[in-house]
Amino acid sequence: MQERLKELQAEALEKVAQAADLKELNDIRVSYLGKKGPITEVLKGMGKLSAEERPKMGALANEVRDLISGQIEAKQNELEKAAVEAKLAAETIDVTLPGRPVREGNHHALTRIVEEIEDLFIGMGYTVAEGPEVEKDYYNFEALNLPKGHPARDMQDSFYITEEILLRTHTSPVQARTMEARNGKGPVKIICPGKVYRRDNDDATHSHQFTQIEGLVVDENIRLSDLKGTLDVFAKKMFGEDREIRLRPSFFPFTEPSVEMDISCKMCGGKGCSTCKGTGWIEILGAGMVHPNVLEMAGYDSKKYTGFAFGMGPERIAMLKYGVDDIRHFYTNDIRFLKQFSVTE
Ligand code: PHE
Repeated sequence: MQERLKELQAEALEKVAQAADLKELNDIRVSYLGKKGPITEVLKGMGKLSAEERPKMGALANEVRDLISGQIEAKQNELEKAAVEAKLAAETIDVTLPGRPVREGNHHALTRIVEEIEDLFIGMGYTVAEGPEVEKDYYNFEALNLPKGHPARDMQDSFYITEEILLRTHTSPVQARTMEARNGKGPVKIICPGKVYRRDNDDATHSHQFTQIEGLVVDENIRLSDLKGTLDVFAKKMFGEDREIRLRPSFFPFTEPSVEMDISCKMCGGKGCSTCKGTGWIEILGAGMVHPNVLEMAGYDSKKYTGFAFGMGPERIAMLKYGVDDIRHFYTNDIRFLKQFSVTE
């Protein structure tokens, strides 16, 4: 019996030592130490032993059992530790790998120009006004001295939504809206940036949707020289102190007199080059003294109040300032184009 126990011990220990995983180990435990296992089987024969032999054999059997279960436990710890280590090794994070760079965003080139122009005029005491992009024919045209059927409406081919509603073709309706809201009282000093729409075919210099910035000043004794002085400050701040401006006579139904403002060409210093088409000047914006009809329609006494207004295209200004040759770059949002304006302020 003693020999059988030793044999079982050796056999079990051998198997434990060779167990490859926890499941195998558990099978060994069940088969050797379980109720139906060989040790229990051997002990069943104890009844046949003498009274002296019996306790010795019992002690030996316990010893064998303890030894086997001790080894199983040790092996179990070993296997569990190995499993954890294998898992850790498989999940190792290489902290030395370079991270994925997070691209820093920046303001769109147009937004930058609009904000720059806003800041400039805010510095001169203007406030920023807004108006709807879907506009009434009345504010877009009629209140600006462009009655229905007026030929000058053709200057701005429009997207009509109904007979009376259209996508605004310029930011000038905000002039009419602002004045109307003031109930004939001055002073008014606003600029209004926003999107405008025209039925143009898109090309390098035209877009069916673009941006304008409108300016309006209404008060007593506002003169053309005030407009000229304001535009001169604007042009020099925007394009450089060395730039000259000139006003050319023009026509807009809502201003009288009307002018167009040019700045001296930076490329040639006014001598004439391909950028300024040989003239030495580059057209920047339209402006003029608010037409008395426009003042009156908005409820102002045109004998007491006068005003000036101007309207410019930030795309054109950005194109000149940054040397962009196609207006469509502002809308197609090619990241390589946009990235060039990522100067952090
Ligand atoms: N609204 C005019 C345009 O879109 C520009 C302008 C504004 C002219 C204000 C004079 C005064 O062409």
